[in-house]
Amino acid sequence: MTFLDHDDAVVSCDVTSGVMVVVIANPPVNALSHAVRLELIDSFARVQSEPGVHAVVILCQGRTFSAGADIREFTAAPKSPHLPQVVDAIEACAVPVIAAIHGTALGGGLELALGAHYRIAERTAKMGLPEVNLGLLPGAGGTQRLPRLIGVEAAAQVMTGGDPVLAKDAKELGLIDLIVEPGRLKQAAISFAQDLIVTGTSVRPTREMTCEVLEKTRWEVLKSSVATRAKGSTAPLACLDALDAAMHGSFEAGLAQERALFGQLKSSDQHRALRYAFLAEREVGKVPMITGVAPRGLDQIGVIGGGTMGVGIAASALMAGLGVRLIEVSEDAAHRAEVAVARVLDGAVKRWKLSPQQLDEILEHRFGSDVEYAGLADADLVIEAAFESMDVKREIFSQLDAICKPGAILASNTSYLDINEIARTTNRPSDVLGLHFFSPAHVMRLLEVVVGDTTSADAVATGFALAKRMKKIAVRAGVCDGFIGNRILSHYQKAINGAVLHGASPYDVDQALKRFGLAMGPFAVSDLAGLDIGWANRKRLAPARDPAETYAAFADVLCEMGRFGRKTGRGFYIYEEGAKSGCPDPEVEEIVAQERARKGRTARDMSAQEIVDRYMAAMANEAARVIEEGIALRPLDVDVTLLNGYGFPRWRGGPMHFADTVGLSKILNDIKRFQEEDAHLWQPAQLLERLVATGEGFESLNSI
Ligand code: 3HC
Repeated sequence: MTFLDHDDAVVSCDVTSGVMVVVIANPPVNALSHAVRLELIDSFARVQSEPGVHAVVILCQGRTFSAGADIREFTAAPKSPHLPQVVDAIEACAVPVIAAIHGTALGGGLELALGAHYRIAERTAKMGLPEVNLGLLPGAGGTQRLPRLIGVEAAAQVMTGGDPVLAKDAKELGLIDLIVEPGRLKQAAISFAQDLIVTGTSVRPTREMTCEVLEKTRWEVLKSSVATRAKGSTAPLACLDALDAAMHGSFEAGLAQERALFGQLKSSDQHRALRYAFLAEREVGKVPMITGVAPRGLDQIGVIGGGTMGVGIAASALMAGLGVRLIEVSEDAAHRAEVAVARVLDGAVKRWKLSPQQLDEILEHRFGSDVEYAGLADADLVIEAAFESMDVKREIFSQLDAICKPGAILASNTSYLDINEIARTTNRPSDVLGLHFFSPAHVMRLLEVVVGDTTSADAVATGFALAKRMKKIAVRAGVCDGFIGNRILSHYQKAINGAVLHGASPYDVDQALKRFGLAMGPFAVSDLAGLDIGWANRKRLAPARDPAETYAAFADVLCEMGRFGRKTGRGFYIYEEGAKSGCPDPEVEEIVAQERARKGRTARDMSAQEIVDRYMAAMANEAARVIEEGIALRPLDVDVTLLNGYGFPRWRGGPMHFADTVGLSKILNDIKRFQEEDAHLWQPAQLLERLVATGEGFESLNSI
């Protein structure tokens, strides 16, 4: 017997041998939209009126179980039936309900499964409550049911971390009852249901289980570790409030508390920012130039240079299933690079990202190094990650042009240099582009795909396809010094150097911006990257520097003293052997004071708020120019870049979203205020002035 009331039904029911199989079919990820919720309620009402139904199986069609509430519905007024009602209806079912999970069961999707009385999952399935990543907590009973099933500490980890758990761990935790091999989920679920019928096993509502009460000291330890990891984000702490209610009150009271907290979070700026970031990361790949363009095939890639970048790129490519040949200048250097790549891959095995068998297969069959370019004749793509000098790049690209097969893509990992000039050194400028990875390349998710004047659409599409294979987020960038990210970084660095010249210490700046939400302050980041890198770049740009610019030379002085940051034990901070972070150094404050004196400046007090205002105004202003010039397609491209490559706090959505939140007129007023002190640095971007005049935000430029 099959129920499917209309052609566009998103839930279908089919009864065989006493088991009703309820299938959700709402591509691409079976989000629990209003239509799905309505039809699920209908389906479960039918169970009550069908005397021949003795058990129910919930399945999802397509590539995955449900990814949860429909995020795109969040901006509209919620429509009944709400998800908690649906989950309650499932749990209240008079006959046993089994959720059968494949792919990922996330958020409301997992909560739906928690409403079922039993859960089975394919071995490859994952499940989690990632609501914190959207600034929310599980709002369909998850905060109350999960701790009853797996204990409070494990539930806290799942809810506050937001990471999914693998089926095997879920089984150990008691979240699921059975693991089945992929491909036989439906049959396994039906036979599981039939076993329950035959053995007369009854329903098992999770709400009727008792919740453990954590001993006070363990609870306090848990709370303090969650607070530390939250770094300013409020949702993880709200998850703990809901767990507190689960431990100390009735199920119904806990649900009411969960509802109240969910409502508060849903109307918060943090939720708006995180939801925006989620959608922006999906939107950023929609680039008109490559819409409908097929990428070129990728199988073998070459990497030039075995430094930190080359090693990270090679490891990422190998983990993405590609063959890699790495080129170095000497046998010794090539050997060292091979060892370094193997070390990175070994780390991936330790973190369960690669199996030992996969590692063996990579090292035996897919990876090798060389000192000759001839080995790159078969490569589909070569990524140059050599020294940042145009002369070096010219030399490498003309060699590659001579050796690589027709159709091979030649990419540079340069952070600043002109891709058009590099392309001109070859006879195939349409095959040349920038692939700007971030260090360490096997960890950082951002990839700027830098499109030159002559780069062909299918070469760009191949850059995006490579990013996807490497599980990275690609952002299209135009050619300018520093592309999107480093160009904005250079500008806000000038602004914070200005703050230091006016009286803030580098440590004040780092502290204020960490309090704003950055993972690390910018001076600590420079120390980590190596102060010599910025120094080399400033020397490269020196001939073109406008004499009207206020040039803060204190970082150069540190470099002249051999203080290159962490790697030399001294930079803006002093690093003791083995210490995780550095200590402020009075000598640096002295160097800064001398620089102020040279410039005739008197130090004044600067509040943490003013430091943040300067940083944000500089960032928004330069980003506006970057958008105006077409270097970034949209404001969201800037946000995705700064969020994934520069540690901008995700719960603030990105600098463009944040600027919209505080108001562009405030940003413009700040620029005008700072202009009185440094008219050269603080010139408002035309786009910013135009948006303020029309009362629009950056958001208005996000749809193209
Ligand atoms: N609602 C609406 N659309 C969703 C969605 C959701 N929950 N999850 C994914 N999508 C959309 C994406 O926006 C994308 O749309 P597009 O093709 O138009 O850009 C499409 O589905 C495919 O998504 P991905 O590109 O991300 O596909 P992947 O295969 O890489 O990843 C995924 C799939 C793991 C499911 C990932 O999309 C994901 O993590 N989704 C979010 C899951 C989540 O956060 N769920 C919690 C929602 S809040 C909630 O449930 C509240 C409840 O407690 C009350």
